[in-house]
Amino acid sequence: MLTETHHPEVNLFVKNISQLVTVAAHGKRAKTGRDMRELGVLSDAGVLCREGLISWVGTMRDWSGGLSPDFPEFDASGTVVLPGFVDSHTHAMFAGDRADEFGMRARGATYQEIAEAGGGILSTVRSVRAASKKELKRTTSRYLLDMMRHGTTTVEIKSGYGLDMDSEVRMLEGINELAQEEMMTVVPTFLGAHAVPPEYKRDTGAYVALIVDHILPYIGKKNLARFCDVFCEKGYFETEASEKILFEGKRMGLEPKIHAEELTASGGAELAAKVGAVSADHLERITPPGIRALREAGVVAGILPGVSFFLNHGYAPARALIDAGVPVALATDFNPGSCMSYSMPLMMSIACTQMHMAPEEAITAATINGAAALRLSSTCGSIEVGKQADLLIADVPDYRHLVYHFGTNHVRRTVKRGTLLEF
Ligand code: NIG
Ligand code: FE
Repeated sequence: MLTETHHPEVNLFVKNISQLVTVAAHGKRAKTGRDMRELGVLSDAGVLCREGLISWVGTMRDWSGGLSPDFPEFDASGTVVLPGFVDSHTHAMFAGDRADEFGMRARGATYQEIAEAGGGILSTVRSVRAASKKELKRTTSRYLLDMMRHGTTTVEIKSGYGLDMDSEVRMLEGINELAQEEMMTVVPTFLGAHAVPPEYKRDTGAYVALIVDHILPYIGKKNLARFCDVFCEKGYFETEASEKILFEGKRMGLEPKIHAEELTASGGAELAAKVGAVSADHLERITPPGIRALREAGVVAGILPGVSFFLNHGYAPARALIDAGVPVALATDFNPGSCMSYSMPLMMSIACTQMHMAPEEAITAATINGAAALRLSSTCGSIEVGKQADLLIADVPDYRHLVYHFGTNHVRRTVKRGTLLEF
């Protein structure tokens, strides 16, 4: 598993682009501070894709021509082209839904109250344990297709609704198979420490031991996941248990990620710095020392405004994170409980209106910085020579309208590794 995927890779010349937003990073892994506003915009531009990779970017004035008459072309007059979005944090494999909880929250119940009453993550765990791999894959592949319609070309998917050996492995095998079969770039993450399953209810320690002694070694040996994540939170996995799991994951070759400071300030950001996590996500309750720890350790802050919107529980301090020089990535956290949306443009709009991010910062956070949160910035996240030809072509007068004109899908076409997708 986790082997190279092979898709038919084609050639394409996207020409006459009214506005090309390259998000050029010039070799940097992520953008920070003021640089997050630099989008590298070109007017009347073109992008040449050869065998799935970008081989030329420039203005039509500088285009020298010379392509053979049968070279595939797409005339992008009147459109804006951006790098495909990188959604660096999702739980896009699940069964069932939690529409009932949505209604309960509307009547005043909180996410924690619902979880304590046996709903929440554990309700999805019951559905996933009863689902076959085929069923799980079928639902997720539909979501992947619709994500691509909305401009996403790379997505991370976590396990974490199985919470036992068989079901966690079934989820991860399904996610790896989708990575092979689908056009989308799919990155698998192991999140066995998402909640304590009912059979370990009064014994978190024994469940942590199961993860460390049995599940992680198997996943490491079979190469089923790229990252290991933990829900570091009071009542779920405290920092000590989280640290143990993340270090063991690292020993097995899985880089650490962490759900940190979501419901309470619990030191998850400091733990991310300590274990050398690639990203610390959520951060609604992060403290100033936590922000400093992330900056010093170069940890990407993954902010998830859709969760704050959906649960109405306050936003992460995106402005303070950016101003402190922490690389900020934006993701959906798509899942049935805390954010039932995979629209990256919607997340960007919420980030601008509720977190005071500039549209330019939101675009950077949704592209190159998302790639950094998955250690993929050398292959995607910007429109630069040598990277994968992953583009979105939007019917808007300029890039700000993607964020400003919210609640509708402006993506006309998506290009994945040079393939102009048909939906
Ligand atoms: O990222 N915080 C923990 N996990 C998810 C929620 C998953 C669920 O409610 O099913 C999150 O918000
Ligand atoms: Fe999450």
